[in-house]
Amino acid sequence: MRTAASRLIHSRASLSRLCTMALSRNKRCLSTESNQVEEPFKVEEAETVNAPPPPEEKLLVLGGSGFVGTHVCKEALNRGVSVASLSRSGRSLIRDSWANRMTWHQGNLLSPDSWKEALDGVTAVISCVGGFGSPSYMYKINGTANINAIRAASVKGVKRFVYISAADFGMANYLLQGYYDGKRAAETELLTKFPYGGVILRPGFIYGTRRVGSLKIPLEVIGSPLEMLLQHAKPLSQLPLVGPLFTPPVNVNSVAKVAVRAATDPVFPPGIIDVHGILRYTHQK
Ligand SMILES: NC(=O)c1ccc[n+]([C@@H]2O[C@H](COP(=O)([O-])OP(=O)(O)OC[C@H]3O[C@@H](n4cnc5c(N)ncnc54)[C@H](OP(=O)(O)O)[C@@H]3O)[C@@H](O)[C@H]2O)c1
Repeated sequence: MRTAASRLIHSRASLSRLCTMALSRNKRCLSTESNQVEEPFKVEEAETVNAPPPPEEKLLVLGGSGFVGTHVCKEALNRGVSVASLSRSGRSLIRDSWANRMTWHQGNLLSPDSWKEALDGVTAVISCVGGFGSPSYMYKINGTANINAIRAASVKGVKRFVYISAADFGMANYLLQGYYDGKRAAETELLTKFPYGGVILRPGFIYGTRRVGSLKIPLEVIGSPLEMLLQHAKPLSQLPLVGPLFTPPVNVNSVAKVAVRAATDPVFPPGIIDVHGILRYTHQK
């Protein structure tokens, strides 16, 4: 006890001696009692700190050459994100100037060896890969292709994965079996592999100007008024059997905006977002 007390007295004395020495040499000792600074404290030389730079956001859009994909790419570029796309056709027919600001990979999600290096350094993925055809083709393109992508992204340590799925269409689910079975299988895989960074968007009909070759099809002519009408009819969309027919269409720019936000905002909640959720997020700043 006495030893500890004498050490304390000794260290206080040493501190005071140090302070006097510093005062006489530099006149810069700060006094806690008077709060006075004799001379402004100057940093003579800055120390070099080797802190790593903040990680760059790098987004890979699967199906970036398609209808929804091109809008997703443009939205992400406008937000200053570094963007790449992967599809079987690569850049193909896209001649717009924005397309020069991104990287175009060519690969098939059904043949994993043709595209895995496209995931190098990627922080987030948005998958716009899907399609129609025979039941087995629809299962492959909506399900297997996306499941392959989800697994590969998870192995590569990608942080966030957004999947453009589709709203339930009641009886149509039965008619388009491979399509919906594939969508739901990919959703299950996503929620398993990305429990904290997986987001599923379930739009109904998506409208906007769709390009088919050199043709531009203005789907907004019917989509926009229907959206205005049906977005306030949520109770009707919950009716059994016919309810899904009242699902409001959604603008392709709204889908792109919510998808990019979900892929780049680290606090965006994981899980499933239905059409009404997409419309709600679209109107948020
Ligand atoms: N459009 C709608 O009204 C609507 C509504 C609800 C949900 N969705 C969903 O939204 C997503 C996008 O739809 P969309 O209308 O934009 O379709 P889309 O125009 O047909 O685009 C599909 C994209 O996927 C690529 N792709 C297809 N198979 C691929 C594969 N095996 N490997 C790599 N890339 C592949 C296509 O490019 P390549 O052919 O060159 O490979 C294309 O870029 C789909 O999942 C769709 O089911 C669409």
